[in-house]
Amino acid sequence: MTESNKTATLTIHGKEYELPVHSPTAGPDVVDIRKLYGQAGVFTYDPGFTSTASCDSTITYIDGDKGELLHRGYPIDQLAAKSHFLEVCYLLLYGELPEAKALETFETTITRHTMLHEQMQYFYRGFRRDAHPMAIMVGVVGAMSAFYHDSTDIADPHQREVASHRLIAKMPTIAAWAYKYHTGQPFVYPRNDLDYASNFLRMCFSVPAEEYEVNPILSRAMDRIFTLHADHEQNASTSTVRLASSSGANPFACVAAGIACLWGPAHGGANQACLEMLEEIGSVDRIPEYINRAKDKDDPFRLMGFGHRVYKNFDPRATVMKQSADEVLDLLGIENNPKLQVAKALEKQALEDPYFTEKKLFPNVDFYSGIILEAMGFPTSMFTPIFALSRTVGWVSQWKEMIADPQNKIGRPRQLYLGETNRDYVDIEKR
Ligand code: SDX
Repeated sequence: MTESNKTATLTIHGKEYELPVHSPTAGPDVVDIRKLYGQAGVFTYDPGFTSTASCDSTITYIDGDKGELLHRGYPIDQLAAKSHFLEVCYLLLYGELPEAKALETFETTITRHTMLHEQMQYFYRGFRRDAHPMAIMVGVVGAMSAFYHDSTDIADPHQREVASHRLIAKMPTIAAWAYKYHTGQPFVYPRNDLDYASNFLRMCFSVPAEEYEVNPILSRAMDRIFTLHADHEQNASTSTVRLASSSGANPFACVAAGIACLWGPAHGGANQACLEMLEEIGSVDRIPEYINRAKDKDDPFRLMGFGHRVYKNFDPRATVMKQSADEVLDLLGIENNPKLQVAKALEKQALEDPYFTEKKLFPNVDFYSGIILEAMGFPTSMFTPIFALSRTVGWVSQWKEMIADPQNKIGRPRQLYLGETNRDYVDIEKR
């Protein structure tokens, strides 16, 4: 393929085709192949979409080589240090940091949407107590379309706005109630005098038998964890939400699809899998055994919380998370946490091993998050629900951007067919 100033030339079966090349504000140029099949009668082939842009977007940009993550242009480390989750939600949804009055109005709106329809409690009661909270969240979020009919018409901008606010506001309640149901403790209702992170902690950890004081260290750490997971370009679960939305499905059903995709251990389920891996390794002296297993082509074991499709340098979220882990454990007086010791030694040994450095495998967002969440009192089964809670604003922001795009059409990939060609039915007595 040769490239002129704004086009690329593709030669197929001896014939040349001119394809437009679009330049981004940041990142690689893209070759526009939308007319390729019509002009040349061929498909492109890219399982896993390693070289394929599915859309254009203005929300989040990742520079994998630099290890840079920008939300509407603002670096994640600055947002984690100086902003807070609901302000980041506003930024992702509306494109700019809010002025004080706009932020106050937004926070009040979210706060006043945190309660669930009272009948949704019966959904929880249909699950076994040992149901994974992600199974409950997929079911309850999908069921929201049966309770919030007045915000399912995606053609109505006002209803899209209301659905966005409801999803962001209610996810902490949904996740907390999944945890409470699992423990057999009564549901705790949200309180309007608490901030987003404090409300979530109180709904998870308070019991009617005594007063619950939110620890400001924990609520600040919780809020930062929400921010670090808020959005991440066209990752698997966001792409799932976009594809589901492209058929015109309602936002609750689309976010439920995103939750289901996030659950996988290769994606958002890696935080739970990583902590379980650290538990299994158990001590620093067993690290070489597991590093060898991760390098062994015949062993399916991989270092959970390591590697990334886009980052070929440190995941900037992991860097902030690692600092936060040190702070939170220190402030909580948890010294010599064995899992943190193993995690740090594992990171050091892996990054001294050519297998990982040559493949550019670094810790990702899931490598340290579980250590903080466990120190805060969460069971490993709640790690991915917390990721889903945080990522809801990303899913919703990307969904709103897509729905408002006049070019938006149903997503329908093609395939490289390798099956049987046309053949006649054979009666059973002749087989
Ligand atoms: C998230 O997309 C996003 O943005 C996701 C996310 C978000 O915020 O939405 O960042 C959140 O999902 C983070 C990733 C969490 N998953 C894990 O930590 C699970 C462990 N990591 C991997 O399974 C893997 O690294 C992926 C899934 C994250 C990325 O896989 P890719 O891009 O498809 O890369 P690959 O599987 O082709 O791996 C390339 C090579 C392979 O070796 P070769 O076949 O080339 O010899 O690197 C090896 C892999 O075997 N490899 C690993 C490894 N990850 C990749 N080897 C050991 N341990 C690992 N963790």
